[in-house]
Amino acid sequence: MLHWHAKEHPNETAEDYLVRLAEPKDARGVIMCMQSVMDERIYLVGEYYMLTEKGEQERLKNPDDATFVCEKDDQIIGVLTLQRGFHRKNRHTANLGIAIKKGHRHKGIGTKLMQKSFEWCKQNGIKKLNLEVFSSNTNAIELYKKLGFEEEGRRKDQFFMEGTYVDDVFMTKYF
Ligand SMILES: CC(C)(COP(=O)(O)OP(=O)(O)OC[C@H]1O[C@@H](n2cnc3c(N)ncnc32)[C@H](O)[C@@H]1OP(=O)(O)O)[C@@H](O)C(=O)NCCC(=O)NCCS
Repeated sequence: MLHWHAKEHPNETAEDYLVRLAEPKDARGVIMCMQSVMDERIYLVGEYYMLTEKGEQERLKNPDDATFVCEKDDQIIGVLTLQRGFHRKNRHTANLGIAIKKGHRHKGIGTKLMQKSFEWCKQNGIKKLNLEVFSSNTNAIELYKKLGFEEEGRRKDQFFMEGTYVDDVFMTKYF
């Protein structure tokens, strides 16, 4: 578990945030957090979380995947998922997804969640950590670069949003 005080960030009041590995009991909170970011329809491809609460509980039990959550006042306000390659040929890879609820961004929570997930990658033999991000999501791209990700390619005009074509940017961090 990782506690830190918001005093690291001068604009925060005195709340504590807690970053920890998710457990099956967190299923509902994870779904609600993900769905609230999906409802914004800006940052994520999916618009509906695809698992039921029972399905999400099962996913959270899978030892090959890891989900980290950030909690504030007993509410999950940030989720990071790592999904390890399923096959023997790609077990050294994992795909990362991250979503922080609106109103809690730019406070260092994304950075804390990512750092926690890197520890898991190192402990579990992940050599190559992948993610996909919209080319329009420059805030996220800058954060990923700061944390050691590099662009390895992009699928052009893969999405059409608000009257504009957007690229699917593939980013990778090696361990
Ligand atoms: C992208 C995302 C995960 C980043 O998480 P975050 O918690 O906002 O990120 P952090 O606060 O750790 O860092 C982001 C920036 O905030 C800055 N920051 C940190 N503390 C801050 C504070 N108190 N005040 C202002 N800025 C702060 C960081 O230095 C960083 O700055 P920079 O990018 O301008 O250099 C989050 O914004 C999010 O969930 N967005 C919506 C969903 C999304 O885009 N998901 C990713 C899809 S691929």
